[in-house]
Amino acid sequence: MKLAIVGGGSTYTPELIDGFARFRDVLPLEEIRLVDPDPRRLELVGGMAARMLARAGHPGRVVATSDLVAGVTDADAVLLQLRIGGQDARHQDETWPHDVHCIGQETTGPGGLAKALRTVPVALEIAEAVRRHAAPDAWIIDFTNPVGIVTRALLQAGHRAVGLCNVAIGFQRRFAAMLGVDADAVSLGHVGLNHLTWERSIDVDGVDHLPGMMRDRLDDLAGDVHMDPALITGLGAVPSYYLRYYYAHDEVLAEQLRDESRAEAVRAIENELLALYADPSVDTKPEALARRGGAFYSEAAIELLLQMRGADTRGRVVNLRNDGLLPFLPDDHVIEVPARFDGARFVAEPVAALPDDIAGTIAGVAGYERLALDAAVHGGRDRVLRAMRAHPLVLQHDRAEKLTDLLLAANAPFLSWA
Ligand code: G6P
Ligand code: MN
Repeated sequence: MKLAIVGGGSTYTPELIDGFARFRDVLPLEEIRLVDPDPRRLELVGGMAARMLARAGHPGRVVATSDLVAGVTDADAVLLQLRIGGQDARHQDETWPHDVHCIGQETTGPGGLAKALRTVPVALEIAEAVRRHAAPDAWIIDFTNPVGIVTRALLQAGHRAVGLCNVAIGFQRRFAAMLGVDADAVSLGHVGLNHLTWERSIDVDGVDHLPGMMRDRLDDLAGDVHMDPALITGLGAVPSYYLRYYYAHDEVLAEQLRDESRAEAVRAIENELLALYADPSVDTKPEALARRGGAFYSEAAIELLLQMRGADTRGRVVNLRNDGLLPFLPDDHVIEVPARFDGARFVAEPVAALPDDIAGTIAGVAGYERLALDAAVHGGRDRVLRAMRAHPLVLQHDRAEKLTDLLLAANAPFLSWA
């Protein structure tokens, strides 16, 4: 199999390579193409990837290229892992919303809108190259944030795409450790939109362990997501840590105003990692990569690739079309739930009716997401303003106006229409 990784110069890539090396017997990869516009990163990350495969005795070849068409030609699958504007643009997403007392984050709230506007046009261009040059039945696996909006953009344009995030696999691994069982034995009742999800059950062999864990391990459950135990009891579900931006908005804002931004922290870790990747004696995944975030990304990607090759029939959490599953959302909205691959497409598992608080939050953010995609595809200040105002963390008209000006000022170089 030939796999193209667009955004392959990411410091995350060795995490994926480490996974490919560990799973080489079940996932035969003859070629791994790293595609990235940044030649320096390609050289460092490509060199590191090649050394890691060689060290693991993996027969696959690493090809590093800045030529998108060459990179995706005949690829059997394409992973998209882009961050348009890099950590500099991310730092902006994480800071300008502070001017109106709103949290800054690269996928949630006003910063997430900025990222969607920068990213969707590029993702669509790449997908066109995939449609023209990759193998006819190639899938795009989208890691690129905001995953829900980007995946919907790809599906709307008729691409064969599925969205992936590591939040669900992180919960699965954590709950398995808490219960002392194999991760594969745990199926999550995971539901929502990307970065807006709740765990409503923790199934092991047909038994739901969530009620018992809420009784016996409530503080651990709450501590992991940095939220109040009473919130978890009240919801009857474990919210992902991204819901802190909503349920503990002011607390997060205070932390953000006090601390350095995540972009600044990541930039420092990335410099450390790139220096290690440049060292020809380093040929295994460095410890510092664990601080980079993206835990279990490689496993999530590999499990998905295995599932799509028919080698694994378990349900996995992915981002896919709603198609009636959440009856209060349009069919073409993209949701994040467990699904199985039937050989041609992903089929979601049934979801029990949602309580009004969770359903209402999902519906509100989904409305924003639809307007955000409209703004990303068609451009124009009015569309950006409308999406901005629709976001449940904004709503107030004057704040939406101010945030729109801030967004446009910070992102003009990335927006062809601005
Ligand atoms: C989590 C999210 C990803 C996101 C990443 C950012 O893993 O699920 O969607 O890209 O965090 O990690 P970073 O280390 O860059 O903050
Ligand atoms: Mn994610």
